[in-house]
Amino acid sequence: MLDHGIKRTKIKELLLTGEVDREVVAKGWVRTKRESKNVIFITLNDGSTMHNLQVVVEPETIARDILDRIHTGAGLSVRGILIESPGAGQRVELKANDIILYGEADPEEYPLQPKKHSLEFLREKAHLRFRTNTFGAVTRVRHVMIFAIHKFFNDKGFYNIHSPIITGSDAEGAGEMFRVTILDPVKPPLNEKGEVDYSEDFFGKPTNLTVSGQLEAELAALAMSDVYTFGPTFRAENSNTSRHLAEFWMIEPEMAFYDIHDDMDLAEEMLKYLVKYSLDHCREDLDFLAKRLEDEEKNKKQEERSSMGLIEKLEFVLNNDFERITYTQAIDILMNSKPNKQKKFQFVIEKWGADMQSEHERYLVEKHFKKPVIITDYPREIKAFYMKQNADGKTVRAMDVLFPQIGEIIGGSQREEVLEKLRQRIREMHIPEETLWWYLETRKFGTVPHAGFGLGFERLMLFITGMGNIRDVIPFPRAPLNAEF
Ligand code: 4AD
Ligand code: MG
Repeated sequence: MLDHGIKRTKIKELLLTGEVDREVVAKGWVRTKRESKNVIFITLNDGSTMHNLQVVVEPETIARDILDRIHTGAGLSVRGILIESPGAGQRVELKANDIILYGEADPEEYPLQPKKHSLEFLREKAHLRFRTNTFGAVTRVRHVMIFAIHKFFNDKGFYNIHSPIITGSDAEGAGEMFRVTILDPVKPPLNEKGEVDYSEDFFGKPTNLTVSGQLEAELAALAMSDVYTFGPTFRAENSNTSRHLAEFWMIEPEMAFYDIHDDMDLAEEMLKYLVKYSLDHCREDLDFLAKRLEDEEKNKKQEERSSMGLIEKLEFVLNNDFERITYTQAIDILMNSKPNKQKKFQFVIEKWGADMQSEHERYLVEKHFKKPVIITDYPREIKAFYMKQNADGKTVRAMDVLFPQIGEIIGGSQREEVLEKLRQRIREMHIPEETLWWYLETRKFGTVPHAGFGLGFERLMLFITGMGNIRDVIPFPRAPLNAEF
């Protein structure tokens, strides 16, 4: 668009490298407007950076009718001369010669007036919250992290696999899936037994949105060696928490000829790579988010405050080896812990075999080891059917990576590659074997040891940005009773 006869330059570039005394065009949305007798200051943001461009208007240069209609939220194009800024805080500013007002924002109605808004309020305005500093920063960091994930794997010779979103199998055996159907919900076709007849459905059988791309990633790994998926996953669990979404993005690498130790090494290397990448490429946004977190911490009770700032926390993860312990060791520590003995945990650990809740995971990470922890060798009863069974007959080669504030950030395992053992587990867990015939054939033909894991992308985003609620690190969160926008 050449509205003023000159191509537009993004604000990031103008602020960073813009040559002064040159005519340029900037476009964006008004954050604030300040008017004094002989000058008007408009701050403009276009999303390219945290920083606003200060536009200086001498009232006589622009039609009064236009100036009066410019308010916070309006969309503008400004042609002017970039000049050195006499004011503190910015190198350059734009002296306006011409303004096009694309769209007004009525101050009586526009919800994002320049003042502090709560995150809860902004969740209800998710269609507009990109226009705030916080969501601008989160959105930019999210993009950089997506890019870094692909770069990490590409540099290592992994191939990206698009696993299906609609699936006829239930990868985790969790049974908390969203049904995909075209049958009439009021009058579905029934079979002789009076049950819904899915043979008349679109795919001729029941189908769901996937909970994981793992099983398909395994098929690819058993030919391509190292692959990863990075796709949306869906879980209909009714967990209304600050760490669960019904629709989230998961990164699932799957590697042939890896055992659980190689798997853990890759998980740790990847998390450190991503943390370093964020520090190297998102520093301005992270500094802003660190300040935001610091202000938020001030409102908390002393004992609930984190001892580290955001940047310190990121550097700490980068510079320390993750602690690696078995489930059995973890349960020992927990059973002997103060909060367990004093029944301070909501779920008191009574015996070996108990599933760990996030309060236990966070105790191990934040109070006991004071660093990220990887737990291995979980009881097979609380883990999925595909995990490699240990010789003890009780545990499987699972590994979960636990992070401060978040608890589980990664879940993975070495996979059972022995056909008979896998079959036996499928039967024990009452999973219909015929739905997995294709998966089992990989164990029948050229089976090899392999392993993989799943990183919840929004959990990673929580950690990197220091945001407290997972609904604030994805543009449009999907959670129970929440599918607006
Ligand atoms: O531990 P999960 O369920 O593991 C799997 O799905 C395996 N198929 C992964 C694999 O081995 N390829 O989920 C993996 C990660 C969790 O550690 C967590 O970070 C994230 O996905 N996660 C969620 N994130 C947001 N909302 C939810 N409801 C999540 N459930 C799991
Ligand atoms: Mg898990």
